Amino acid sequence: MTKKQLTITQPDDWHLHLRDAEALNSVAPFTAKQFARAIIMPNLNPPVTTVAMAVEYLDRILAAVEGTDFEPLMTLYLTDNTSVDEIIAARKSCFIKGLKLYPAGATTNSDAGVTDIRNCDAALDEMQKSGLPLLVHGEVTDPQVDVFDRESVFIDKVLQPLSQRFPELKIVFEHITTRQAANFVLESGDNIAATITPQHLLFNRNALFQGGLQPHHYCLPVLKRNIHQQALLGIIRAGSNKFFLGTDSAPHARHKKECACGCAGIFSAHAAIEIYTSIFEQQGVLDKLEAFASFNGPDFYGLPRNSKTITLVKQDWQVPDEYPLGSDKLVPFLAGQTIHWKLV
Ligand code: NCD
Ligand code: ZN
Ligand code: ZN
Repeated sequence: MTKKQLTITQPDDWHLHLRDAEALNSVAPFTAKQFARAIIMPNLNPPVTTVAMAVEYLDRILAAVEGTDFEPLMTLYLTDNTSVDEIIAARKSCFIKGLKLYPAGATTNSDAGVTDIRNCDAALDEMQKSGLPLLVHGEVTDPQVDVFDRESVFIDKVLQPLSQRFPELKIVFEHITTRQAANFVLESGDNIAATITPQHLLFNRNALFQGGLQPHHYCLPVLKRNIHQQALLGIIRAGSNKFFLGTDSAPHARHKKECACGCAGIFSAHAAIEIYTSIFEQQGVLDKLEAFASFNGPDFYGLPRNSKTITLVKQDWQVPDEYPLGSDKLVPFLAGQTIHWKLV
């Protein structure tokens, strides 16, 4: 019998971009409606590099979700100059849950990112000691490296050596897109885990060119070949506790996606848990959704699992063509398409 209704422990989103100001006010309520908590990415302009900046950003987020129980889990943006003192302050703050590594130039608002990971050795040593995770955008930026190989080259050139230098450092390999990344995480110790987005499970790079150029399927790391999509789906079916939900929902105004040099990022917060549920159902593993969405993340971060539940029903609904983003518009993931599960 096919399932008509599903109740699971309330999920968390372990990779989320909320932006700031009026955009923040537009997108944050979508996440607060579905998720109890989310790891908030610090790639604002200017980036959130200090505990003091994170406190202020936290206040703005809380104002945007007023009237809900949503708990933002804050992160700091790692730079070449992040001091050991800042790491100690982050640990003492208790609300900073990790530091984000953006290789300089790798993605949206990464210009202030790390130019050479060895510049961060003192900070990483302190993070290893204090158990503060490093969250990684895992792509090299060398223009000589093919854009589709940037994740796998990053593993060989940066991540593997890093995990040998800091064998106890907790690392979340964010938004993994390749078989190589999945295997690296599987073969690593319990201190290394990964997030997987809905778009990298649902699509491969054909979706970028389906009937013409599709800017709303453009994110970084870019969608890969079918064999990589299949490897990620294989991970979902196998149900390892080293992988968890991270939407990488990354809103950009419509005119910044549909233009000559469009921004990278896909907004999925409007329907995140419904889309993941459809994927797990399609793979025949609805029973594995709860661990992926609600258990593996908090277990890795050393946080309690949520006590509330959510219920989804099997019911078709159509994704709107756009949503407001402050005074701009936003085209959501799967705009105009039918989704078969709905959050009650
Ligand atoms: C993200 C963004 O827009 O902030 N974009 C993306 O394509 N994923 C940045 C990131 O997560 O790399
Ligand atoms: Zn990223
Ligand atoms: Zn991201």
